[in-house]
Amino acid sequence: MEVLKNKKTLQDFIERQREMGKKIGFAPTMGALHNGHLSLYEAARKENDLVISSIFVNPTQFNNADDLKKYPRDTNRDILMLEKSGLVDAVYIPEVEDIYPEKAESQHYDFDGLENEMEGKSRPGHFDGVGTVVEELFNQVKPDNAYFGEKDFQQLAIIKKMVDKKHLPIKIKGVDIYRAENGLALSSRNQRLTEDRREDSKIIYETLVKVNDWFKTVSVPEITNRVKDIFDDQKGMQLEYFLIAEENTLKETDFFYKDKSYRAFIVVMVDGVRLIDNMHLD
Ligand code: PAJ
Repeated sequence: MEVLKNKKTLQDFIERQREMGKKIGFAPTMGALHNGHLSLYEAARKENDLVISSIFVNPTQFNNADDLKKYPRDTNRDILMLEKSGLVDAVYIPEVEDIYPEKAESQHYDFDGLENEMEGKSRPGHFDGVGTVVEELFNQVKPDNAYFGEKDFQQLAIIKKMVDKKHLPIKIKGVDIYRAENGLALSSRNQRLTEDRREDSKIIYETLVKVNDWFKTVSVPEITNRVKDIFDDQKGMQLEYFLIAEENTLKETDFFYKDKSYRAFIVVMVDGVRLIDNMHLD
């Protein structure tokens, strides 16, 4: 596996691969890798000649300096994990100047309102930061296919919208949420929970499974009340939001049309750690 530590080495590498006519699959990350990240490379491996990872803790998508400072960083461990997986041909680990040559600042994007729903409300400016870094990484890596987890479903929708609006020649592929055996969605943040709390947190997944059972027969306000009741009974857990939204617009809804798809979204604070999850409803 090649470790590419700046823009120049990446560009030389990409140029060589392009000349050989290789189809490139790419999935960007912020490091602190786990099996959820690897599932993106597994998907990419099946559809491309070359699989590229990136590790970059993007300063412009954090809402506060403390959160950015606290973000777990262990690049050597990440490189080892990618290497051992055998799924990745090259990892790009840029410096801030490789992405932001002048100033680490976001561009402003119009994602047709997607940016104002859910995470956009609690994290102002976050999706401008994500759009900025992903667009720049796309320009540098020039992938044919790019892979994003459904774990961050709103992010996936926003990247699809950006590629669409800017007519970028890249296919965006969503990858299923990778879960621990107990159902908890894998996340770099889970490391900050004790083993017992990780076990308790399976209630988030179990609740989504119940919501899916109720979806056809119970009204949305009643579903929402039941979800609130479940978390009221959980010590040390606070439900930040729960809602059901239409999958294309991400707009919250109280009733359903037969020809549209819906998804439940949930954010729960567990011992001060913000856990996010979602599930397609069928
Ligand atoms: P990060 O949180 O490191 O996630 C990188 C990618 O891994 C995202 O597409 C995310 O949805 C996916 N992912 C994380 N956990 C997953 C799981 N349990 N199952 C499936 N996929 C999972 O998301 C970011 O970084 C950044 O915002 C980034 C896109 C890299 C831009 O900075």
